[in-house]
Amino acid sequence: MMKHIPVLLDAVKKELGDIRGRTVVDCTFGAGGYSRAFLESGAKVIAFDRDTNVSKDAEELKNQYGEKFRFINESFTEIKQLYQDDFDDVVFDLGISSMQIDNGNRGFSFRFDAPLDMRMDTRMDGTAYDLIKNLTEAELADILYEYGDIKKSHMFARLLKKELPQTTFQLCDLIKNPNDIAPIFQALRIAVNDEMGQIKSALSSVHDLLRSGGKCICVTFHSLEDRIVKNTFRKWTEISGNPRLPIIEAPKYKMLKTALPLAEELEKNPRARSAHMRGVQKV
Ligand SMILES: C[S@@+](CC[C@H](N)C(=O)[O-])C[C@H]1O[C@@H](n2cnc3c(N)ncnc32)[C@H](O)[C@@H]1O
Repeated sequence: MMKHIPVLLDAVKKELGDIRGRTVVDCTFGAGGYSRAFLESGAKVIAFDRDTNVSKDAEELKNQYGEKFRFINESFTEIKQLYQDDFDDVVFDLGISSMQIDNGNRGFSFRFDAPLDMRMDTRMDGTAYDLIKNLTEAELADILYEYGDIKKSHMFARLLKKELPQTTFQLCDLIKNPNDIAPIFQALRIAVNDEMGQIKSALSSVHDLLRSGGKCICVTFHSLEDRIVKNTFRKWTEISGNPRLPIIEAPKYKMLKTALPLAEELEKNPRARSAHMRGVQKV
């Protein structure tokens, strides 16, 4: 299985600047590419990941860096449990890792036949199969439309409810049109893992917790994630109150640079193609 190649890491490092002696929260540990780079730059790292399969890489970093590295095998929404003094900067590298998509048993990929699971955190209930079984046809159609941009969402929802596919290949056989397969897998995965809800919740905690001078940087992989991050950061950096009235509140955050992968990175790692980095800094 191919190790996950960190995406936009140089851009993230550049935007974070000198992190020697700072504590960076890596919200999405994955294979630890970001965490390792931050540690090598002289920072301390607190890393989250809700996938229990990543703990071996985390142990390796723990052995190497000791107290400088702490791993929390939970959702990054648990950042709300940290105190303001615990960290300086926060980084999210959202979406799914190469290890998850390339693991033939987890149901994330239509290339392998596997139970229709798709849970990042296998300690939680609710596989993709359970989702199809338990949602109403209308709820399922909404998910396909919203998270997969599937035009015939009602037709597919009806079909899935009727046939209740239990494996990835059974699902592919039902969908038939190859163009609809990837978006339907994506929609189910986003719903199973409540990906949009988790980002919103974690960003809201970061807003309150980040201390002055701290940066929050997000790398997103599709337009839905990017829209949430973009709109959230816009709100944080906007002047609040009625600009015509004398009492207006200066924004607590300023916008940092955005970045897209360069041709050079895309050549080495085609999975970086839809990546988008955005950041803010608390003033
Ligand atoms: C794109 S990978 C991160 C790769 C990492 N930056 C690296 O360099 O190896 C995304 C990781 O985030 C994790 N993840 C996604 N949503 C999460 C959440 N809500 N809480 C914690 N981890 C999450 C996934 O399990 C996956 O391992």
